Amino acid sequence: MNKIAVSILNCDFGNLNREIEMINRSDADWFHLDIMDGIFVPNISFGFPIIRAVKSKAAKPLDAHLMIASPDRYIKDFKAAGADWLTVHYETCPHLHRTVQNIKQEGMKAGVTLNPHSPVGLLEDIVGDIDLALLMSVNPGFGGQDFIENTCDKIARLREMIEKKGSKALIQVDGGIDAGNIAKLAKAGADVFVVGSFIFRAADPVQTIRELAAAV
Ligand code: DX5
Ligand code: ZN
Repeated sequence: MNKIAVSILNCDFGNLNREIEMINRSDADWFHLDIMDGIFVPNISFGFPIIRAVKSKAAKPLDAHLMIASPDRYIKDFKAAGADWLTVHYETCPHLHRTVQNIKQEGMKAGVTLNPHSPVGLLEDIVGDIDLALLMSVNPGFGGQDFIENTCDKIARLREMIEKKGSKALIQVDGGIDAGNIAKLAKAGADVFVVGSFIFRAADPVQTIRELAAAV
C-alpha cells in the first residue's frame, strides 16, 4: 500500500491547527516533519514545541526526518515529542547500526536517508535492520527545489537490493515531487512519497492530495 507523507515545512505556521486539520481529513497517510539544525544543512526549521503541537492534533503517524548533526543525542526527545518514525542521515552517523538499534529500542520505526550523491550500495549492510530507506531527490535543506532525475535509477537499484536481501524496508523518496513525476517514482519501486510545496501551493490541498494518492 503506497503512502503519501505531507511535509509541513512550507505550510502556514501561523495557522498550524488549520493545516493539521486539513491533513487529518485528507487522503494523506503520514505527517512528515523536517528537522534542520543549520549545521548539517544550511537552514534551521523547527523543533520539539512544534512537534508536540502537531502530535496533539494529528490523527496520523508522525514521520520525523532529522537533518541534524549527531542525531543520537536526541533520540529519546523525539520519542517523547511524539515521533512514530525516526529517520537519520547516513552522512551524520558514524555508528549507524547502533543508532538504528537505539531508535528501535525507544519503540519507533527506524529509517536511514541518503543524500543525492550517496550511492545506494552504502545501505547494503543495514537494509536488513531498518524499517525505511529514504532517498533524497533534492539536496536537503529547503522545500520547493527541483527533482533530481538520477533518483529514479537509485530507487530501482534500492528495490532490487531490498528484494535480494529479503528486507521489509519501505522506500521513501523526498523532494521535488508533484503530480508530474509521482507515478514514475511509484513505477520505479518507491512506497512512500514526501510532498510539501506542491500541496501547500495548491488552491485545493485536499483535492491535490487525493490526486497524488490516486496516482500511486
Ligand atoms: C528537504 C525536505 C523535504 C522537503 C519537501 O530538505 O526534506 O521534505 O521539504 O518539500 P518539497 O515537496 O517542497 O520538495
Ligand atoms: Zn524531508
